[in-house]
Amino acid sequence: MNELSPATDAVRSLPADWYFDPAIYEAERRQIFARTWQFIGPEQEFQRAGDYRAVQVAGYRLFVIRERSGSLKAFHNICPHRAAPLLTEGDGHCDVLRCRYHGWTFATDGRLMATPNFGEAAWFDKKAHSLVPVRVEVWRGLVFAAIDDRAPPLIEFLGDIPALLEPYPIETFGKLDQAEFAMNCNWKTYTDNFVEGYHIPGIHAGLNAAVDMSRFETTHRRGVVIMKAPQKGGSIYGGLWLWIWPNMTLSVYPDGMNTSRIIPTSEERTELRYEFYFADAASGLNEKRRATIETNCQIVREDFGICEEVQQNLKSGIYRDGPLSPRHEDGVKYFQDMVRASLAQ
Ligand code: FES
Ligand SMILES: [Fe+2]
Repeated sequence: MNELSPATDAVRSLPADWYFDPAIYEAERRQIFARTWQFIGPEQEFQRAGDYRAVQVAGYRLFVIRERSGSLKAFHNICPHRAAPLLTEGDGHCDVLRCRYHGWTFATDGRLMATPNFGEAAWFDKKAHSLVPVRVEVWRGLVFAAIDDRAPPLIEFLGDIPALLEPYPIETFGKLDQAEFAMNCNWKTYTDNFVEGYHIPGIHAGLNAAVDMSRFETTHRRGVVIMKAPQKGGSIYGGLWLWIWPNMTLSVYPDGMNTSRIIPTSEERTELRYEFYFADAASGLNEKRRATIETNCQIVREDFGICEEVQQNLKSGIYRDGPLSPRHEDGVKYFQDMVRASLAQ
């Protein structure tokens, strides 16, 4: 192996202005978020025809709905009349999609059905005003959608993730809870934090006491950063923590897993949507499971504090970039290289 020469091969973080520059955010919207498969949620949220989940990511509003034929469909959440959203963000059920602005109605397969009080016009063709479809695919019980037709098939996009998760029966876990967070920082400020364990001793006293940091490992494979920390005693922390390009996380613990979506809502605002799943979900939440969820949420809150302060310093005009640790920040380097490569396209 070549020895690193600090002068020529220095590994530095992204430039500070990439964390707040509106032009970078716009490029990320189009070149990252439109072109990648976005995790929407577990398929078990779409049991009956008409069940839907409406989401947004970096200014794109989409929804996935179980159609009458039984298949899943996804659409842009934009009425083709004058651009109102058809559904409010979140989960729900509807048999017909009705735009509340002027009352146009659509079938769950996207066809425009009725345009009340629109009037007669020879030039108006209902068939040309269906909802705009988005690609949707399911992998092992997890639903993903992709806006851009040029995104590769989901299984290809997932890179080495299917092989990594093969030993875990993730599709048998049932969702029992969820949690939402919002923070004042760029989505990359939070992601940089998620993909390294270097900060655990400084920021997470509880977690630090529960894992053996001397054996904390961060590696990456195609499309994924993998973090493993041998646990001390029977805590929840043992297992596999994955970050999946560009904005999903999935952590497997002894009797279940959690997923999260890291959602940019503007240059300096990010939301997090966590979902918690357990084996034998019919037995419901018990004290131990609630503690698992609360511990996870506590760690997230600890991360927010530091991420919001880092964001302020990134904006100060003083800091430009910094060196990345070869021992601990391989995940940060991998993520940031993916961002650089995407924006260079
Ligand atoms: S914008 Fe939807 S009916 Fe007018
Ligand atoms: Fe953290």
